[in-house]
Amino acid sequence: MKVGRNDPCPCGSGLKYKKCCLVENNALPKDLKQEYFRKYNIRLKEISDIEALKKAGDLVVRTLDLAEQHIKAGVKTKQLDAIVHEFTLKNHAVPACLNYRGFPKSVCISVNEEICHGIPGERDLKDGDIVNIDVTSILDGYYADASKTYFVGTPSAKARKIVRIARESLKAGMAMVRPGNTIGDIGWAIQKYAEKHECSVVREFVGHGVGFEFHEAPQVPHYGVKGRGIKLVPGMVFTIEPMINLGRKELHILGDNWTAVTNDGSLSAQFEQTLYVTPDGFESLTPYDLNEPLFK
Ligand code: MF3
Ligand code: CO
Ligand code: CO
Repeated sequence: MKVGRNDPCPCGSGLKYKKCCLVENNALPKDLKQEYFRKYNIRLKEISDIEALKKAGDLVVRTLDLAEQHIKAGVKTKQLDAIVHEFTLKNHAVPACLNYRGFPKSVCISVNEEICHGIPGERDLKDGDIVNIDVTSILDGYYADASKTYFVGTPSAKARKIVRIARESLKAGMAMVRPGNTIGDIGWAIQKYAEKHECSVVREFVGHGVGFEFHEAPQVPHYGVKGRGIKLVPGMVFTIEPMINLGRKELHILGDNWTAVTNDGSLSAQFEQTLYVTPDGFESLTPYDLNEPLFK
């Protein structure tokens, strides 16, 4: 079925197709861009922005792959930070975390019960740990943001479970991303999946618009109500980055003023990608395989 330019937009906005989701001549409808900025402070991205973001995203994924190669028992998290830092600079990019709101290192590294924003330091990785590496790079002024949780040595059954559920949670959220669905649909799908497996969803940190800055509108909660929230439209770029705990959802921040840890000491895992809403779904700007065997 072909939608005419003047027909109602299939996303259900009530606008004409040409004023809403139709992408013509590689440019977004001006009205939609203005409406999303005025109403929500959301900066929709043009095709030229997406091309630049793909380059930034490709660097982020290659940086994660490089860091993974150095993960083993006995390695200090500050050594992984140095590897990320140097590789980023060598590729003419800037580590977005460094000095961001006073964050002192170039990457966030969060181990076991650490949920996110772990500061690399003297901690040695040990056999059985799980470790999240969260890389954000600025290339040509464009930000891309992605993270993965890895095993150190041989994982316990609990470690395998929480990493698997966190990865599947990201996939459940991504499966909701298409024009006409809402921000609430994403969180709803993640929460439903994680809670069905008796895990919990962190509330204090959310996915976010990204691209021209590190954290842009909108916020993307990893919990929520189906059909609620802003409608997704082509040109939106945001992260989904569910933090999933094996135990309860409550957290506190350590004395370093950054590291978030589970109150009950249970394991927490996270996967994150930067996504671009297209006319018929989405494309990842930080594509990595979410289906590879979890433990090789
Ligand atoms: N990369 C994190 C995110 O996914 C943010 C880290 S902010 C920092 O949004 F300051 F801790 F680096
Ligand atoms: Co991140
Ligand atoms: Co993020």
